[in-house]
Amino acid sequence: MNGPHSDAFVFFGATGDLAYKKIFPALQAMAKRGNLDIPIVGVAKAGWNLDQLRARARESVEKHGGLDREAFDRMSRLLRYVDGDYHDASTFQSLRKELGPAARPAFYLAIPPELFGLVTEHLVCTDCSKGARVIVEKPFGTDLASARELNRILLATFPESGIFRIDHYLGKQPVRNLLYFRFANVFLDPLWNRSTVESVQITMAEDFGVEGRGAFYDQTGAVRDVIQNHIFQILSNLAMEPPARSDSESIRDEKVKVLKAIAPIDERSIVRGQFRGYQSESGVAKGSRTETYAALKLEMNSWRWQGVPFYIRAGKRMPVTCTEILVRLRRPPDVYQSQQAPPQNHIRLRISPDVQIALGMMVLKPDRDVEGQAVEMLANRHPEANEMDAYERVLGEAIAGDTTLFAREDYVEEAWRIVDPVLRANTPVYEYEPGSWGPAEASQSIVPRGGWHAPMAADAKDVQLAA
Ligand code: BG6
Repeated sequence: MNGPHSDAFVFFGATGDLAYKKIFPALQAMAKRGNLDIPIVGVAKAGWNLDQLRARARESVEKHGGLDREAFDRMSRLLRYVDGDYHDASTFQSLRKELGPAARPAFYLAIPPELFGLVTEHLVCTDCSKGARVIVEKPFGTDLASARELNRILLATFPESGIFRIDHYLGKQPVRNLLYFRFANVFLDPLWNRSTVESVQITMAEDFGVEGRGAFYDQTGAVRDVIQNHIFQILSNLAMEPPARSDSESIRDEKVKVLKAIAPIDERSIVRGQFRGYQSESGVAKGSRTETYAALKLEMNSWRWQGVPFYIRAGKRMPVTCTEILVRLRRPPDVYQSQQAPPQNHIRLRISPDVQIALGMMVLKPDRDVEGQAVEMLANRHPEANEMDAYERVLGEAIAGDTTLFAREDYVEEAWRIVDPVLRANTPVYEYEPGSWGPAEASQSIVPRGGWHAPMAADAKDVQLAA
C-alpha cells in the first residue's frame, strides 16, 4: 500500500555498524540522485555531537563506495544528532524537539530487537509515533515465537501498513526482475508448472566466511541468516501466482500463499554443514554446532507445484560467490530408444554477482546425424557502477511509503513456521573443506535428480552447465 512520503528520517543506532556499513552510503546515494530532502536524525548513546556523527558518516561513505563531495555535503546539511539513553524519556523529548513540525517521521530501528519495545513505548509517550512508520532489519526474530512477539510489540504502536521489515534481497533489481520476467513473457507461462518442470534448485554460495561477524553468526547460522529470508523471497517470486492487481497487498498476498503451501521441514529434508576452521573464528564458541551450510528440500502442496521438489542450498566458504536458480524441465519421451541419455532443457536465472538468464536446450552436433549436444542461449549483464543498490532502494521505498518490497507480518511468520522444526533439531553438522561445495553427505541424501548444479564464477568464460 502506498502511504504519504515521510517528512523526517530518524535512525536509532546511528553510531553502530549497520549505519556505518549500509545507512550512510545509501543516504549519500539518495542525495546524489536528488531523492533526499528531509531532515535526517541520528540517535545513539555515545556521548557524541553532530560533528562527530558527520565525521563518522564521511568515513563510512569513504569505506563503502566512495565519497561524492556534493552529495555528501547535501546529506550532511540534512543531518541532525540526538545523544541519549534509550531508557531515558528525555532522549525522546529531545528527539521530538529536533523533529520540529515533522508529522510523518520514519523511524529506522538499527538497534537490537530487545530494545524495540522500550523505544516504541517512548515514541508513543513523547508524541513521536502518530502518523509515523517504523523500519526494522532482518532477521526478524530468531524463530516463530520470537517473530510473533516482535510483531505483537510493533503492531501495538504502528499499523501493519506502517511497518517496513527489510529484507535487502527484495531491493535487488534481479530479484524484482524474477517477477517481471515471469509475467512479461508469455512463452514462459505454459512451462511454469508441474507438467513441465522437473525440479528447481536455488543456490546461494559465498566464497568468504563470517568476516568478523562470528559472534552474531554463531547465534544465527545459515537457515536463519539467509534461507528463512533471502532465499524464501527468491522462492516466492519464482513460485507465486500472478497477482490480481499490481498493488503491494495483492503482490504480498500471493507471496504468502506460496509459503502457506509448504509443510514444515522435517529432519530428513535438511543437511547441515560447517566449514573446517569456523570454530577458530573470533566470537565463535568452541564446539559450536552452528551451520555455515545447509541444503534442504521443500515440497509445495499447490495446484501449480505439487510433486516438484525445490532444492535450496546456502553456504559460506564455497568455491564461488553467486546466487543462481536452475529450473530443470522434464525430459521428452525417448521414442527413438536411442542409446544416449534423453535430452533435458533448463532455465537458469542468475541473480548475482552478474545477471544471467539462460535457456538450456539440445541441438544437433554439426557433423553428426543424430547426436545432440547441450547448449545455452544466454542473456548476460554486469551491473553498472551507478545502479541503485538494494539498500538505497528499500530505504527510498520505505520513506516513500510503498510496502511492496517489505515482508508482511503473515509472511515472516509463515517463513519461520516452515523452518521452525529444524532450528531446534539435533541433526548432525558435517564438516566440509573451505572452498568446496559443502559436505559430501549433502550430495548423498539431499540431491536433485541429475545432481546439484555448480554455478560458475562471474568471470568464467565457459558458462556451460556443470551438472
Ligand atoms: C546478509 C547476511 O543478510 O546477506 C550475510 O547476514 C550475507 O551473511 C549477506 O553475506 C548477503 O547479501 P548480498 O547482498 O551480499 O548477497
